[in-house]
Amino acid sequence: MRVPFIDINVSDNLAQDEIKKSVLSVIERKEFILGEEVKKFEEEFAKFVGCRYAIGVSSGSTALLLSLRALGIKQGDYVVTTPFTFTATAESVIHTGATVVFVDIDENTYNISVEAIKKCIEKYRGKIKAVLPVHLYGQPCEMDSIKTLCEKNNIKIIEDAAQAHGALLFFQIRKESKQRKDIIKKVGAIGDVGCFSFYPTKNLGCYGDGGAITTNNEELYQKLLRLRNHGRVEHYLYQHIGYNARLDNLQAAVLLIKLKYLDRWNKERQKIAKIYNEGLSNVGDIITPYVSENVTHVYHLYVIRTKYRDELMKYLNLNKIGCAVQYGVPLHLQPAYKGLYKTVDSLKTTEKIAKEVLSLPIYPGLELSKVEYVIKTIKKFFKTRIGRSKK
Ligand SMILES: Cc1ncc(COP(=O)(O)O)c(C=O)c1O
Repeated sequence: MRVPFIDINVSDNLAQDEIKKSVLSVIERKEFILGEEVKKFEEEFAKFVGCRYAIGVSSGSTALLLSLRALGIKQGDYVVTTPFTFTATAESVIHTGATVVFVDIDENTYNISVEAIKKCIEKYRGKIKAVLPVHLYGQPCEMDSIKTLCEKNNIKIIEDAAQAHGALLFFQIRKESKQRKDIIKKVGAIGDVGCFSFYPTKNLGCYGDGGAITTNNEELYQKLLRLRNHGRVEHYLYQHIGYNARLDNLQAAVLLIKLKYLDRWNKERQKIAKIYNEGLSNVGDIITPYVSENVTHVYHLYVIRTKYRDELMKYLNLNKIGCAVQYGVPLHLQPAYKGLYKTVDSLKTTEKIAKEVLSLPIYPGLELSKVEYVIKTIKKFFKTRIGRSKK
């Protein structure tokens, strides 16, 4: 049996006829730039996230860059983020001329540590203008605490939700009457802005590059609309030095259809994760994903931890099972970042976790027999190669 790490065919085949029709309609109308589909998708995506506005942009990376620019982040400002993420997160900060401050992650969730953010705010008081939490692998960060902390210190929040479309957070607020009220929010609707990527393999992916920014702030919305289109206010009148960062109308046509399936596809990912969790509990030294209370995880990636990561990876590949490491070399250890970042404490948890993580195949349409085969193969690895299976 062969189990590819990623396969978008099965899920997309389900929507293929609708997608083709939607794309053909754009081609027939020759409406390629900022057309009807972009506008419609922005409306639908804003509704989906639970925000007033969404702005379609050319990628998740540009979503981050434009958000920082719209918030006025510039040289001399500090932006706090995690080194355990895809390079685009921190790269966007460096492009603005601001300084990245890397802080350590939580040992259980692998998301940015709130305690570390607190220390950072104390150390660089007054300099920190934004925090950039990443909802890594599809699990929301501790946004309740991050928001309280940032509001108290007048710091902006840019959510990197590139891996977490549709993930939920449950907040409890106490009103003056002391009655508790439960509020459910989606990632991208909590910070000042939320940034999404529609890279083809993401939970919501298009057929090329694409991204979106979500916000409830009208002023930011208007500025972001200008920034993505060369800073333009009217034909040949420019208010800012902007970018060509528009979402392609053909991509919007794809996204409009696929958005209808996103909840269903996320549920499928959660079902597969549950099978992995049950099958891999007590196998060798494996640590299955920890999910915080008050959130849902949408499993863009299903990531286990083991000290035998490299051997297990080889064994799985030998058995025709695709797997990957996200992320083996944290950003502060990448050559590109040498001399370009600050930190508060050591980044020891990040360095430890980076040596142990392994992503297993997970995607809508992955047959359960294949999931069982992956579990069986991992069990066999620990029994025959390591001899440490507790089962
Ligand atoms: C956490 C994170 N941030 C940002 C990005 C950048 O998105 P894009 O590839 O659409 O530019 C990605 C994409 O992989 C990501 O995983």
